[in-house]
Amino acid sequence: MTEQLQIGSDEPVQADVARWRAEFALADGVAMLNPGGFGTVPRRVTTAIRRLQDRIESDPVDFHVRRYAPEMAAAMEPVQRFLGAPAGSTAFVGNATMAMNVVAAAIPLRLGDEVLATAVEYGSVADLWRRRCTIAGARWTEVADDGDLDGDLLLERLAAAKGPRTRLVVVSQLTSSTASVLPVAGIAAWCRSEGLLCVVDGAHAPGHLPVDVAAIGADAWLGNLHKWALSGRPAAVLHVGERLAHVAPVVRSWFSDDPDLLTRFSIPGTIDPSTWLTARVGLELWDELDAEGAWAHGADLLDGLAVRLRELWDEDREINRGAALAPRMRAWWLPDATDALQLRKVCADEQVAVWADQVLGRPVLRVGTSAHTRPRDVDRLVALLPTD
Ligand SMILES: Cc1ncc(COP(=O)(O)O)c(C=O)c1O
Repeated sequence: MTEQLQIGSDEPVQADVARWRAEFALADGVAMLNPGGFGTVPRRVTTAIRRLQDRIESDPVDFHVRRYAPEMAAAMEPVQRFLGAPAGSTAFVGNATMAMNVVAAAIPLRLGDEVLATAVEYGSVADLWRRRCTIAGARWTEVADDGDLDGDLLLERLAAAKGPRTRLVVVSQLTSSTASVLPVAGIAAWCRSEGLLCVVDGAHAPGHLPVDVAAIGADAWLGNLHKWALSGRPAAVLHVGERLAHVAPVVRSWFSDDPDLLTRFSIPGTIDPSTWLTARVGLELWDELDAEGAWAHGADLLDGLAVRLRELWDEDREINRGAALAPRMRAWWLPDATDALQLRKVCADEQVAVWADQVLGRPVLRVGTSAHTRPRDVDRLVALLPTD
């Protein structure tokens, strides 16, 4: 915050945004309002990745044969702490999709089984489970959702939908399409009491919501580090509890049966491990930005946007009213006549990166902010939105 004191600006946050934005390689003309889409990798992380790659290339055989395992173990330590995961319960995986495939492969479904989920699970995740249900002759059931489900109501609906052959519940910690924060610890506890397995898709959680994997208590939890936790792209973590301790890589390779989970997943053939091994650098920057108020700044921008959208549309169209809001990713029902994909295209043409699509039969706008988001980025989006 020294910059703020030095320049004595009336707009101290703005001054800091310039500095925070300089941590990223974003072009000046880009209004990045979808940082959770693919993540925005900070410069110091890409620098750390390049340095590591240079070090690997200085003696690649020595690195892969002798250095790889201890460096992997050291790289996981800060990640585990950040996520509140018990030692030995996590592995690095390529991305959330791969992690979910691993989990699905570890839960053989039988004819007549049922998998319960919300109606707003991530498209490719829902597709994976649907496919596995089809192959096994099991049933994929989505509980009704109007996008405004609060936690209690969701639990009620899951309980009402549960049948005698329900085996597991798949639920997002922060839904992609509606930016809903779901009460995953409560759902996991309910699953335990009902004898069901609970799989939590925390793809959007690390670096966005407080994550305490141990407290969530799911049988499997997975999350991307590259979306909000400032790692290189891609990097993800899979955590499993006792009931799914037998998970194995879907691409079988060396050590696929190793008792140590991290080792079991660490060599999917020859790979570039640099995003995993530098995850610590992103987490350190995350802490720095947090201490400087950068994440609070991102949340403030969305609070301001919510007020402006109420004025623009003359009504409150926010999804998740009354439910817990994600601080830096929120969603609104667009006016009914809006062609969401066309809006996304119009925005992209203007270098405004934002997510809009048809969700639960209605057009939705999802806006994300980060340390690098400037007030003028939000202004540019608002200028492109339909008024009715
Ligand atoms: C809720 C959710 N699950 C899974 C994924 C898949 O993540 P990835 O493409 O990194 O595998 C995403 C991606 O946006 C997501 O939002």
